[in-house]
Amino acid sequence: MNTYGTPAVTMIKGEGAFLTDSEGRRYLDALSGIAVCGLGYSHPAVTQALSEQAATLIHCSNLYGIEPQQKLGAALRDISGMDKVFFSNSGAEANEAAIKIARKFGQDKGITAPQVICTQRSFHGRTMATLSATGNSKIQTGFAPLVSGFVHVEYDSIEAIEAAANEHTVAVMVEPIQGEGGVRVPSDTYLNALRSLCDSKGWLLILDEIQTGNGRTGRYFAYQQAGILPDVVTTAKGLGNGVPIGACLAKGQAANVLQPGNHGSTFGGNPLATATALAVVSELRKPELLENAANQGERILGLLKQELASCAGVTDIRGRGLMIGVELDRDCGELVAQAREAGLLINVTAGNVVRLLPPLTITDDEATHIADTVTRLIKAFLS
Ligand SMILES: Cc1ncc(COP(=O)(O)O)c(C=O)c1O
Repeated sequence: MNTYGTPAVTMIKGEGAFLTDSEGRRYLDALSGIAVCGLGYSHPAVTQALSEQAATLIHCSNLYGIEPQQKLGAALRDISGMDKVFFSNSGAEANEAAIKIARKFGQDKGITAPQVICTQRSFHGRTMATLSATGNSKIQTGFAPLVSGFVHVEYDSIEAIEAAANEHTVAVMVEPIQGEGGVRVPSDTYLNALRSLCDSKGWLLILDEIQTGNGRTGRYFAYQQAGILPDVVTTAKGLGNGVPIGACLAKGQAANVLQPGNHGSTFGGNPLATATALAVVSELRKPELLENAANQGERILGLLKQELASCAGVTDIRGRGLMIGVELDRDCGELVAQAREAGLLINVTAGNVVRLLPPLTITDDEATHIADTVTRLIKAFLS
């Protein structure tokens, strides 16, 4: 179906931070499959885990114990500070699990029409519940009736949440940095203030770390920078480095809301996906990798600020780790094709924000090349 328009190029091979198309042209990929291939393409540890598991057991269903699933669950529990995990096949499905936890958490307390507070410009997925949670009418248009029980308030505002709350409120669901919404970084106190508010009201704090998780911002999860723990955290994208897998992790009361029969997935957590993700997580746990993400992010952000901050037409340059956005005062979708012609893969989100999500493994030279090329293209575009 025509969900993505007609692609301009066909990719046939990937190695490190580079993709090769069917004409043999190579591209430095500053998008990593939309924040998925954090370890780069054809990473040997991922390839080995995937091929060994494929030769051992691809699938057996969740009716049976699955060793790599148990190991991955334990690793994610250690990293995240959560107690339990539900494995899905995508980000949207991880969020569906989180939303079901929030609703049943409310129902169990006698709240018959539970309400989840979400934010404007958020993105939580394309299924009916997650597009209803998404704060963007473009994603929702044509799909009414939406799933009820979501309200949308201004991002980075505690007052807006307080004003929207009522006796039906059961949870607040936000991205620690809004990705699709334009790489919007909230104030340093936002997550801490959200944690305090949820604690004082008895609401669940649900963090959607589908894009920010798995090292993208220089920490395994972005909330670790704030020193808080959510009640529920969802992740996907970088977890499998390209093999479809998502996870909904929860702690405390939230971890015990779902009981046998309440939720499930045929493929979620299957041996192939979890063995691969286990190899990915083992790589991501190496401190030098997250350090590299933080350092290369600072390098790119620094170079972009140096060259573009005073440029008329550039309204903001922001980000954390290797999640970087350059906001222009006008729509700039054509920069994607111009960059591709120059051998660089980027993305434009929210119409006017150039978004960079390169692999966490990029080298100094690759990072500098990304910043230089983006600078040159934006200057030419604005001139
Ligand atoms: C923050 C966030 N949540 C949810 C999703 C949906 O994930 P998926 O496309 O794997 O369903 C995305 C995808 O871009 C995302 O960035």
